[in-house]
Amino acid sequence: MALVGLVGWRGMVGSVLMDRMQAEGDFDLFEPMFFSTSNAGGAAPAMAKNETKLQDAFDIAALQRCDIIITAQGGDYTSEVFPKLRAAGWNGHWIDAASTLRMKDDAVIILDPVNLPVIKDALGKGGRNWVGGNCTVSCMLMGVGALYKAGLVEWMSTQTYQAASGGGAQHMRELLTQFGTLNAEVRSLLDDPKSAILEIDRKIIAKQRALSEAETANFGVPLGGSLIPWIDKDLGNGTSREEWKGMAETNKILGQGEGFSAPAVPVDGFCVRIGAMRCHSQALTFKLKRDVPLADIEAMIAADNAWVKVVPNTREASVRDLTPVAVTGTLTIPVGRLRKMAMGPEYLGAFTIGDQLLWGAAEPLRRMLRILLD
Ligand code: HSE
Repeated sequence: MALVGLVGWRGMVGSVLMDRMQAEGDFDLFEPMFFSTSNAGGAAPAMAKNETKLQDAFDIAALQRCDIIITAQGGDYTSEVFPKLRAAGWNGHWIDAASTLRMKDDAVIILDPVNLPVIKDALGKGGRNWVGGNCTVSCMLMGVGALYKAGLVEWMSTQTYQAASGGGAQHMRELLTQFGTLNAEVRSLLDDPKSAILEIDRKIIAKQRALSEAETANFGVPLGGSLIPWIDKDLGNGTSREEWKGMAETNKILGQGEGFSAPAVPVDGFCVRIGAMRCHSQALTFKLKRDVPLADIEAMIAADNAWVKVVPNTREASVRDLTPVAVTGTLTIPVGRLRKMAMGPEYLGAFTIGDQLLWGAAEPLRRMLRILLD
């Protein structure tokens, strides 16, 4: 049985990963070895078999024993440990949720329902580094990957509505704390049906602007009742790093663009943080290479994989099935609002949502593990 090292299994992404692995019976297929950055020697969780103690996640010799390592520990850990492990001659498979290695030539961004041929090709060539994609990109491709696979996309523009969880667990807590502070500020006025809405509004904006440093420590500014039109680093060219990832990662996942023979498809837009908990939503505009009937597009998207679900472009279906509240905690990727746009018959609009902790983070990792174990 393969020995699989698990690192970062206690954090938010790691916990979702563990839940999914248990639900799918993955632990039946390998001998797990649980690592910890802070509690080496402690008891491993119940899924442990022979290796019942937590190993030190910085112990290169212990890591070297593993055939496969799967980590959701984060980028700093990868930067520190991965080069040492490879330098020590370790030749196992490294499956990573962090972005650190994503764009390296010897790493594949894993999203097998979309790019199994790219994964298989790299495996055949001795590939050993497998990295989960940016959550927004992975969720988008799970929804509309069919259009890319069919070679129909001339370009795509995406406007995102990204949840607090993309920043991390503390960001989710901060959002809810802000909502609570704002609610408390006007509670008595809300309880009084005759109170004036503009007075409530005045009190809310004053409170939002006066939120303490502690209440905005993670986002830096208020998010509750507002939005933040910038995610990740400022690249200094007017683009955020999150926006840059949209084109870079979409093309790399599909095996096109830099380093591949097929040209890159332009992808660009604006990435925006909103007050949702853990689902990233996106409004997409495509310029297609030709005018394809809407019914054919819907059929193509619906047939692409087992998780995508075409939502009829009606008010009733959209408000019921195409929201973060409907999608959270599920592997379903709804794609709706599909329609030809006023700019012409080659312009297609769509709206899609995904749970950024599932398809956006944990699920591609455990599926890669299954591919390696098969
Ligand atoms: N960068 C993403 C976000 C999360 O901030 O929402 C992970 O890909």
